[in-house]
Amino acid sequence: MTHIWVNDQLMNRNEAKIDAEDRGYQFGDGVYEVIKVYKGNLFEMEAHINRFYRSADELRIIIPYTKDVLHKMVYDLVEADQLNTGHVYMQVTRGVAERQHYFPDEASATFTAYTQVSDRPVEQFEQGVKTVLYDDIRWLRCDIKSLNLLGAVLAKQAAHEADCAEAILHREDIVTEGSSSNVYGVKNGIVYTHPANNLILKGITRDVVFRCAKEQGIEIVEEAMTVEELLTMDEVFFTSTGAEVSPIIQINDTIIGDGEPGETTRKLQQAFEAKVQ
Ligand code: PDD
Repeated sequence: MTHIWVNDQLMNRNEAKIDAEDRGYQFGDGVYEVIKVYKGNLFEMEAHINRFYRSADELRIIIPYTKDVLHKMVYDLVEADQLNTGHVYMQVTRGVAERQHYFPDEASATFTAYTQVSDRPVEQFEQGVKTVLYDDIRWLRCDIKSLNLLGAVLAKQAAHEADCAEAILHREDIVTEGSSSNVYGVKNGIVYTHPANNLILKGITRDVVFRCAKEQGIEIVEEAMTVEELLTMDEVFFTSTGAEVSPIIQINDTIIGDGEPGETTRKLQQAFEAKVQ
């Protein structure tokens, strides 16, 4: 049975109703999280919850539960669906109100959460992926995990049409992140990635990879790369909840390194893998 939380009701997914004037639906006025479930366990749940509240807070959306209650609700959902490997999608919107752009006086947040079975992309971990470059046309608050994803949707579609797994975004010649991931380059064993400011989402996987790097004695420098620098890195990889640590072996027509996942990427993959077992 597939369940969904709609506010504080856990129901069958096919019974859920969302109002056409929900501000999430009309304005993308809300925030979301995707949380990986490994063998029935929610991975890095506390970090996801903290980011969820932070994103909502930045938009002045009030999540009507304490963090502990929310955690329990998500846990109960995973139990109800008997999810083994997959993910939870959860979002909160500013709620339902007659359509006008400014915040309504009276609207209470709409919360929804459901699970999805999804396998780990093991082939991608092994072989790496091809990517395309795409103009970062998104807004200037990419640190908020907002429902407004058109910049990401257009970028990912460009990647999809080129038979690639991800689009690497750049503002002018500065590489920011992937359409739904963080991007890293490795030169002489040192890992470079864009600093966590308003131009990128501070990935939970990114934080875990920073910890893995520390344990492995691998240096990570939070320094933005130019597109040209990225194309001449020894190794490139990307991270996200779904992609974990995935090697990038090609960007547009440029083969990265020798076209195989590199040594530093492999080490970080193994260290990450050890944390999800
Ligand atoms: N995307 N940057 C962007 C723009 C993202 O959308 C994501 C995640 C990340 C990586 O964050 P994390 O490691 O916390 O998953 C970075 C999610 C998975 C999505 O939209 O499906």
